Amino acid sequence: MDIDLVDQDFYWRNGAPYDQLGWLRANTPVYLHDGDAERGWPGFWAITKHADVVHVSRRSDLFSSSRKLALFNEVPEEQRELQRLMMLNQDPPEHTRRRSLVNRGFTPRMMGALEQRIRDLCNQLVDEAKGLPSVDFVRDIAAPLPLYVICELLGAPVEDRDKIFKWSNEMIGAEDPDYAADPAEGTNAAMEVYAYANALAAERRQRPREDIVTKLIMPDAAGETLTEEEFDMFVLLLVVAGNETTRNAASGGMLALFENPEQWQRLVDEPALARTAADEIVRWVSPVNLFRRTATTDTVIGGQEIKEDDKVVVFYSSANRDEDVFANPESFDIGRDPNPHIGFGGGGAHFCLGNHLAKLELRVLFEVLAERLPNLAQAGPARRLRSNFINGIKDLPVTLT
Ligand code: HEM
Repeated sequence: MDIDLVDQDFYWRNGAPYDQLGWLRANTPVYLHDGDAERGWPGFWAITKHADVVHVSRRSDLFSSSRKLALFNEVPEEQRELQRLMMLNQDPPEHTRRRSLVNRGFTPRMMGALEQRIRDLCNQLVDEAKGLPSVDFVRDIAAPLPLYVICELLGAPVEDRDKIFKWSNEMIGAEDPDYAADPAEGTNAAMEVYAYANALAAERRQRPREDIVTKLIMPDAAGETLTEEEFDMFVLLLVVAGNETTRNAASGGMLALFENPEQWQRLVDEPALARTAADEIVRWVSPVNLFRRTATTDTVIGGQEIKEDDKVVVFYSSANRDEDVFANPESFDIGRDPNPHIGFGGGGAHFCLGNHLAKLELRVLFEVLAERLPNLAQAGPARRLRSNFINGIKDLPVTLT
């Protein structure tokens, strides 16, 4: 079987990576991907079974997020310092303190309070799309929604949305010419976001409001607070983690509904199914294909011995189609319940902070679409993002009526 899990061009075409990951699950579920000295890649263990991904995710004592940072290649030490400021790249107990401070802003209750605002935004996007001569589902619906929601969370003024949108695209798609002309633009965009967050926090310190930013920069009950640098880094993480992921879930979900018209009809007949559809979309699309950890000691995963400092890459896209966990994993079923997918991570310390928010956005969006645009149809081929990390769609032409 021909498998190069690093090659960007291997992904999202001709059944890849699902056929190959399925083969690995059946034959070599913990698979050693050789390094490549020429490309500077040290090699890694690909973890393909649901149970093993959960194990790696939950045992942050055995599998570190802060040792060796990049997914496949090595990161120079000077860049590691900066990256370790992001909680995604930290281990307990450092991570625990940071996470409990930001959790205050993302409780299910706080997210629930956003529901009506999200519904208004979805309706507004549909109204605006109706006035356009041609509609691209990604550009006109799936991309603006999460961006507007994050701006709302941050209390960023409406006139700043476009520039935040541009920075977010440049950061995530730094190697994609459609998003950023060259990788340096990605770094510049990150600096801009960092400075923007700094100014936002300074403003709230002067004039506190009833919002998440104020909550995050103010001390908690124990008197703990995020430092200025931690706050700026957190906003950077929000802009990266909260935008592209939800955008790709929404557009990947829409494409799955076009490819399974009987599922779209079910949703149109019963929009309340959007609740289970949101989870099925995250399972099916797995917008984040994989994440990496590094073994802190010699250990065993799924019967395979791993050495200290070995790199371990968990494949959510594979775990979410594991036949030991899901009945008919290759069928897209918007009523699937229970749905123990791990598209937001396998549990443990780093489990997605935005999972309630993302599911809320997807549920409300697909309810609104099913109610208001029952004749929504694909009008041309979807174009995929070239990436081994993100399962993304760049454009998806649609007709509304
Ligand atoms: C972490 C997926 C939406 C914020 C993660 C992780 C995954 C993920 C796989 C890593 C889990 C791990 O390493 O164990 C997704 C998907 C989304 C989504 C598929 C949409 C469908 C969001 C949103 C936000 C967000 C909307 C914020 C507004 C974060 C943050 C982390 C994270 C801050 C790091 C948490 C930590 O290190 O403790 N997400 N995410 N995500 N996500 Fe999400």
